[in-house]
Amino acid sequence: MTNDHARKDPLSFLGAELDTLKQQGLYRHLRVLDGEQQATATFDHRQVVNLSSNNYLGLTTDPRLRERALEATRVLGVGSGSVRTIAGTMAIHMELERRLAAFKQTEAVVVFQSGFAANAGSVAAVLSRDDVVISDELNHASIIDGCRLSRAAIEVFPHKDIAAARRILARLPATRRKLLITDGVFSMEGDLGPLPELCALAEEFGCIMMVDDAHASGVFGRNGRGTIDHFGVHGRVDIQVGTLSKALGALGGYVAGSRTLIEFLYHRARPFLFSTSHPPAVAATCIAALDVLEQEPQIIERLWENTRFFKAGLQAQGFNTGLSESPITPVIVGDGALAMKLSDRLFEEGVFAQGIAFPTVARDKGRVRTIVTATHTKDELQFALDVFAKVGRELGIV
Ligand SMILES: Cc1ncc(COP(=O)(O)O)c(C=O)c1O
Repeated sequence: MTNDHARKDPLSFLGAELDTLKQQGLYRHLRVLDGEQQATATFDHRQVVNLSSNNYLGLTTDPRLRERALEATRVLGVGSGSVRTIAGTMAIHMELERRLAAFKQTEAVVVFQSGFAANAGSVAAVLSRDDVVISDELNHASIIDGCRLSRAAIEVFPHKDIAAARRILARLPATRRKLLITDGVFSMEGDLGPLPELCALAEEFGCIMMVDDAHASGVFGRNGRGTIDHFGVHGRVDIQVGTLSKALGALGGYVAGSRTLIEFLYHRARPFLFSTSHPPAVAATCIAALDVLEQEPQIIERLWENTRFFKAGLQAQGFNTGLSESPITPVIVGDGALAMKLSDRLFEEGVFAQGIAFPTVARDKGRVRTIVTATHTKDELQFALDVFAKVGRELGIV
């Protein structure tokens, strides 16, 4: 049967939006990785020094982690078959949570399918309509979505501005439930949340204190325990989120805190309740990654050596690297289209550093973002620095 009523595509407005992005030079295609996520890798059929992954410690391809994943698959299968709250809590999920709780020095941990789910799921579960979130303006999208889902009021303070956060808190009624929330490491700036000052504010005003340590997990603190350990604020952060998807090399996110918090999340965090749990291979890989962090902290030192070398090199060439304090080093150029142009030219010359523009960062803060890993060699990093110098001069950035 033919359809006589020629139907106008009801999604045509999406095409119009994409056309606008193209006109603005902000349209991106997905770069495709052939083979493994390595320090030098093949994207879009071109071999490039890879400064775009979150594979901080090179664990995505570590032979020990691969073996544990394969063994778990052989013994336990490829899937968990259910959500955690029905039939999908396997012994290996519980073992990972026990290991993480011991590592983070908290009473308990619950693992989610991703860091995104951990943030969005826990903020939305803990808060409700009458509550208020006080949130740094550069907090991650998953925090913002969690805040929106909670239906709590959202008060945003300028980036790391403690005095502004204090002014907001001072005008809120003492009886209102409040959540003060920050990233531990900001994903686009590479700087650190001011945890000691924020913890003091939370204590003064009776707030719940929450930190998203996605980019600090495996990077900051003793053996990669994160910014709470780095700043020595143990016991002062009520809700700690970490990720298993970046430095730990696999996939997942977790919330670390009191046993009461974790049992509450078992009952109310919607991604935990309504989405299937990790395959056993993922849980086994994360346990193996924790073994590496505990037994081989030297890899974290290698990451920091590379970070210091690369950051100093970019700064010596005159690039604006913002206020980064971590292996994430932005090269800020301002205009979003120029950031994309810089990224494209770097790629043509053999360096992959992702261009980032509005709405991920403010309109005048376009940049390419670089992330070094423990597995980059000095030669690879020097090559990348030479390419940055050449392309930066060519585009009039330095
Ligand atoms: C600050 C921050 N929080 C949370 C996440 C989400 O983590 P995941 O990739 O495990 O979902 C990310 C990752 O992009 C992030 O940068």
